[in-house]
Amino acid sequence: MRNFSETTITDAVLERIQDTGNPRIKQINEALVRHLHAFVREVRPTQKEWEQGIDFLTRTGHMCNDKRQEFILLSDTLGASMLVDVINHGAQKGVTETTVLGPFFVEAAPDKALGDDISGGMVGDPMIVTGSVSSPDGKPIANATIDVWHSDDDGYYDVQQLDKIGDLAMRARFHADQNGQFRFWSIKPAAYPVPHDGPTGEMLEAQGRHPWRPAHVHFMISAPGYEQLVTHVFVAGDKYLDSDVVFGVKDSLIREFVRHEPGQAPDGRTQNTPYYHLNYDFGLKPDKAASRAA
Ligand code: BEZ
Ligand code: FE
Repeated sequence: MRNFSETTITDAVLERIQDTGNPRIKQINEALVRHLHAFVREVRPTQKEWEQGIDFLTRTGHMCNDKRQEFILLSDTLGASMLVDVINHGAQKGVTETTVLGPFFVEAAPDKALGDDISGGMVGDPMIVTGSVSSPDGKPIANATIDVWHSDDDGYYDVQQLDKIGDLAMRARFHADQNGQFRFWSIKPAAYPVPHDGPTGEMLEAQGRHPWRPAHVHFMISAPGYEQLVTHVFVAGDKYLDSDVVFGVKDSLIREFVRHEPGQAPDGRTQNTPYYHLNYDFGLKPDKAASRAA
């Protein structure tokens, strides 16, 4: 076959890939070809514009390294990450809603004891976080693994300023107690712009968008027999809640970080300066495999 026209080329490509062995890969490849061709037909790019598009994606790839994932940022800011999230995690009673993982999770976060201060000496408003982990029917999940991480008072994560602060801070791994409860101290996080000094930043600027995320604390919670929960809790009242650059906000994930005057904190500790208190009770979804076995 040769001499393809605007109307025959799509079918020609689809025919060429029809022997793709794996049915799922075949479905994905066919959809990719159909949607890519439809995009080109709709946009009708000039040759120069097409080259600019290729150059944009090439620069996106070159920007990626072990500390920076520009493709994830592009997916996040185009709403694709949250679309995948919504497709895979329907709302369910008693199960905490999910949101994007983001690029600042660190696999080897320091293990900390319940009640520890994880601020690493960073300056900011003291914050105590308390909460629980349970199954949808309210049964506590003892010993659940709880990873937490958040930004500092200026909106920077530890990994963005390691040369300045020297060590990981404002992140830790905890284990819930026998009643599924947890508590720790840190500093209250601030809103921050996602990295916007690369191709994603160029795109945001061209689209007339700001790069900000509302202040939040990240949680990743796992326990045997349950699906891993990846989520954040957002600070109520933040001015970016309705324009989060990565579309990650859900009403159920917004909480008041309540300001308290000095006095006895919820963990019994005497706090000499004002502090904030966040409480959040998490619900985990039973694993499909575990529910089948039961
Ligand atoms: C974050 O919340 O850490 C984040 C999420 C998506 C893109 C950039 C940052
Ligand atoms: Fe974040």
